Amino acid sequence: MSQPASREQWSSRLGFTLAAVGSAVGLGNMWRFSYLTAENGGAAFVLLYVGFTLLIGLPVLLAELALGRGSGRSPIQALMHFGGPRWMPLGGLFVAAGFLILAYYSVIAGWTARYTVEAIFVGVPADPAAHFGEISSGAQAIGWHLLFMATVVVIVAGGVRAGIERVSLVLMPLLFALVCALAIYAATLDGASEGYRFYLEVDFDKLRSLDVLRQAAGQAFFSLSLGMGAMLTYASYLSRQEHLPNESVIVAFADFGVAFVAGLAVFPLIFALGLQTQVGESTVGALFITLPGAFAELGGAGRIVAFVFFAALLVGALTSAISLLEVVVSSAIDSFGWSRKVAAVVLGLAIALLGIPPAMDTDILGWMDTVAGNLFLVFGGLMLSLFVGWRMPDAMAQVTPGAEGVRWFGLWLWLLRIPVPLALAVVLWQGLVQLVAGS
Ligand code: TRP
Repeated sequence: MSQPASREQWSSRLGFTLAAVGSAVGLGNMWRFSYLTAENGGAAFVLLYVGFTLLIGLPVLLAELALGRGSGRSPIQALMHFGGPRWMPLGGLFVAAGFLILAYYSVIAGWTARYTVEAIFVGVPADPAAHFGEISSGAQAIGWHLLFMATVVVIVAGGVRAGIERVSLVLMPLLFALVCALAIYAATLDGASEGYRFYLEVDFDKLRSLDVLRQAAGQAFFSLSLGMGAMLTYASYLSRQEHLPNESVIVAFADFGVAFVAGLAVFPLIFALGLQTQVGESTVGALFITLPGAFAELGGAGRIVAFVFFAALLVGALTSAISLLEVVVSSAIDSFGWSRKVAAVVLGLAIALLGIPPAMDTDILGWMDTVAGNLFLVFGGLMLSLFVGWRMPDAMAQVTPGAEGVRWFGLWLWLLRIPVPLALAVVLWQGLVQLVAGS
């Protein structure tokens, strides 16, 4: 099994970096991050999440990059290349996670697209809770979901360079600018300091619950696109010279940075307008109800702010969804020899169909997010760290081309061997207990 000679590559290092950041930055940074932060008590959760990102996210991210670039293959083939056929089921699980996550992710992206368009043509809804209730499930939700999936399919069918890289180069800088503009605007609101306090003042008592720990770990994985081979796949299109440790640090910081700045916009908006009581009752819809409530109270400016906010969210969702579909598509290309266009259309259609149940019922959506967006990823990350830590022959050598002289490799491998799997095993166990207990 030699590496296919025709495998595509990024045209520039920046192209890879922005595509990987594009995968990481998405609904997770704004929608998931803010509702989890609100639900789990603010700053304490943020602190845990940062800790998990650095101690667990970063090593696993580097492991995925090493696997991807080292093999030059998509996830299933990469695992088999280094570990033999016994590892195929794990790759299969990654692809299944891609299917499941993209299916409901696209439904939320569909809501976002609708809110963006409505901000221009209709305005901010007067009763956001009722509006969300009407649009979040049913025929219209399905329609917007299909529209979003069609866009994702077109981009992925375009290829690594002409599709994914080109879109990321244009959209990611735009997203950064929009999110910063929102944070600056939010700082001008009276009463913003309440929001900052909730967001930034740590209440250490809240750090003690295992459940908060589990949520923070799950979020670190989801937000960095880890645990299902998305970063692995992107790294498989990288050349031998790139410095993987640097790339992983850039991606992790950019991802956290956007989530953090988005929080600087979201919490002052919510608190300045006295909506914090609503945040507590967290559902998947929190952001789609509370924020439009805030926008409505801003008067004329609210419509512009709403547009900027949802447009940024939509951009993030699009570049993330692309990476989810790319995992599935690249696997079909490598494993079955399908053409990229056929794979993108056929698999995109299958995922679009799988998205219909969560588009009919937000409870199904929430459940898919818990199972696939949390448990699958944590399990995937656990197996990945064991694989690279113990099974992959000479893991360090796979990272080293272009990165000679990095001192902390020993630490990286040690983290992957013992502390990371242990921590993830606890998190996984806790997640399963929660699932069985039905919460
Ligand atoms: N990280 C993205 C976000 O925060 C979502 C995402 C894209 C993802 N690709 C992934 C999550 C792969 C898990 C695995 O919105």
